[in-house]
Amino acid sequence: MKKLGRNDHCWCGSGRKYKACHMAFDEKIEHYALQRHIVPGHDLIKTPEQIEGIRQSSKLNIAILDEIADKIHIGMSTEEIDRIVVDMTKQMGGISATLGYEGYPKSVCTSINEVVCHGIPDPERLLQDGDIVNVDVSTIYNGYFSDSSRMFMLGDVAPETKKLVQVARECIDIGLEQVKPWNFLGDMAQAINDHARANGYSIVREIGGHGVGLDFHEEPFVSFVTSRGTEMLMVPGMVFTIEPMVNMGKADIYIDDADGWTVYTEDGKPSAQWEVTVVVTEEGYEILTY
Ligand code: MF3
Ligand code: CO
Repeated sequence: MKKLGRNDHCWCGSGRKYKACHMAFDEKIEHYALQRHIVPGHDLIKTPEQIEGIRQSSKLNIAILDEIADKIHIGMSTEEIDRIVVDMTKQMGGISATLGYEGYPKSVCTSINEVVCHGIPDPERLLQDGDIVNVDVSTIYNGYFSDSSRMFMLGDVAPETKKLVQVARECIDIGLEQVKPWNFLGDMAQAINDHARANGYSIVREIGGHGVGLDFHEEPFVSFVTSRGTEMLMVPGMVFTIEPMVNMGKADIYIDDADGWTVYTEDGKPSAQWEVTVVVTEEGYEILTY
């Protein structure tokens, strides 16, 4: 990339001179890069217009999850959850990001109990008393992507399973405390992993969060098992998901051979996950999917 002159227009599209806009910012990032830190490229830094687009997309994403929260009940099939997502998405003028994504056959992921993620809605799978289910919705609106998920508990859930769901929720809040400019993704990861481990749980290593907004899965890969001071530097304008998969037992997982998607815990114990899309701001963060 050509180095910008002080009086050139800034790369961010503000129309201002580079020296009055992102020059000091770039110098600060360069300083971290020289210390061998992983730093974001300009393509990962969203403009205010793009962030507004992702915010609007997130509104649909949340409305869909709110509707599911309203309608979910024992005896309902996971296919019916898919139906709600299909109908709501269409009604609001959005598109499901999962339908057809690398051949994924449905508009939402529904992951029950020992299913870690990517559970495929199925007319035969009825929600039962005591189930915990993650509903993961990914939405495209006006070309912008948003992604979030929540846990739902049906009927009489075992106390130890309730605690798993609760701790997975706390992991999001504890991770968010670390989201601010000039922190590292590893600061967030370690805070989350420490909290899970302190409760006797483990976090899935192979699957994590991701940059999101202009595409479904952008850089960086967001791990929740890495250490403080490592992984990508966070700077204002970065948008990514926080979505640790918290296992009651061991972290090991496997993918269903038959459907090629459903991810299970190796030990058959339950797994819980919440997901938010966040943007790094000057002050810290804004959750787009709340
Ligand atoms: N929504 C998931 C995520 O958080 C991705 C699911 S990909 C799918 O990244 F194709 F399986 F839906
Ligand atoms: Co995601």
